[in-house]
Amino acid sequence: MANDVSINKLYGFNNEHQTEALPGALPIGQFSPQRCPYGLYAEQFSTSAFTRPRHQNRRTWTYRIRPSIAMGDFSKIDKGHVRSGPIIDADCPPNVMRWDALPLPTEPTDFIDGLTTIAANGDVRAQTGIGIHIYVANKTMGSRSFYSADGELLFIPQLGAFSAITEMGKLHINPGQILVIPRGIKFKIEPTDGPIRGYICENYGSPMELAERGPAGANGFANQRDFEYPHARFEDTEGQHQVIAKFCGEFYQATQNHSPFDVVAWVGNSAPYKYDLSRFNVLSTVSFDHPDPSIFTVLTSPSADAGVANVDFVIFPPRWMVAENTFRPPWYHRNVMSEFMGLIEGTYDAKEKGFSPGGFSLHNCMTPHGPEADIFDKATHGELKPQRYENTMAFMLESRYVIGPTKFALNALQRQRNYLACWGDLKKHFNGQP
Ligand code: FE2
Repeated sequence: MANDVSINKLYGFNNEHQTEALPGALPIGQFSPQRCPYGLYAEQFSTSAFTRPRHQNRRTWTYRIRPSIAMGDFSKIDKGHVRSGPIIDADCPPNVMRWDALPLPTEPTDFIDGLTTIAANGDVRAQTGIGIHIYVANKTMGSRSFYSADGELLFIPQLGAFSAITEMGKLHINPGQILVIPRGIKFKIEPTDGPIRGYICENYGSPMELAERGPAGANGFANQRDFEYPHARFEDTEGQHQVIAKFCGEFYQATQNHSPFDVVAWVGNSAPYKYDLSRFNVLSTVSFDHPDPSIFTVLTSPSADAGVANVDFVIFPPRWMVAENTFRPPWYHRNVMSEFMGLIEGTYDAKEKGFSPGGFSLHNCMTPHGPEADIFDKATHGELKPQRYENTMAFMLESRYVIGPTKFALNALQRQRNYLACWGDLKKHFNGQP
């Protein structure tokens, strides 16, 4: 378990955090005084409607050197391989699909240029659904910053560490941790230790929440205390800076003559946060059968229908498996929800071959899937002693909307055209005898 707890860090999912980089910069007792300390501008940042119920209300007050509107007009620029839902220029066959990892860049590439969309669903203009991207980068963004007005960005790093410089402060992220940047927050990504690669879920819907615990009680699964927010940090620098915005699926660029990272103090609950996946407290069966994978949900973006997620972020971490008289791998299934999977490290327990770190798979609504043939044979004949699943961290993005692959993904060299063959050896065992 990672052990970097510091009492000086800001911990607590969805807390009303408050932080100032200069003493006295944060107004006390009110949000919008006639004159702010240090001559700062007050600016409210809202990622929920003003009128959302309190437990779903997200907003932050920022105290900054200049308000965000102190910038030039946006002009459309090339969006490279980035796409948004709905995907209308590619087929969406109901086949199982799987891909190898996308290659690392050979030319100097920053985070924006290294973004590729694999799939998307919903409608970016209607604020429903998700985009699923792969990022690769090997250099910093320099004087460029990025934000998505289309969705909240959930980073799932697979390779390499980076710093995220954001309007609310700086967070350092390693593989095995996740980063969530709210819709609209400007940031830049700085690789700190060689090239980086990972997955992004761009959540067009409601901001991510922690999954409910139900009868499990007040503790367990993802605990609020393990989510870390940044301290305020500002740059009082002038010089040309390019802001690149993703808006309605397109990229736009504007220039301003100062750093956008000029927030000296902030208070609120809408801010970037990080979480170490090793902190996830796994609760599972100690008797028999296999619970639904929803027990591994870290974050969920609810839709208007109770219990039907716009997207769930689910992990399959190291854990003990002790179920008796049970087929222990994930069962064969067909699901109304659509499932995109990735692998952060190690091996996933339903697939021993062909699903490697950085790779990804897509099993859409009602597309059958389950363990490959070899895994079935082992699981039905092995001795059921307690077993520790080690060296594994897979994840799933599960959505109520069919996930459409992009033209890039369908035609990619990394697509495994023979994926179905891993089930080709499933034999008939039925012989009419009980
Ligand atoms: Fe599944």
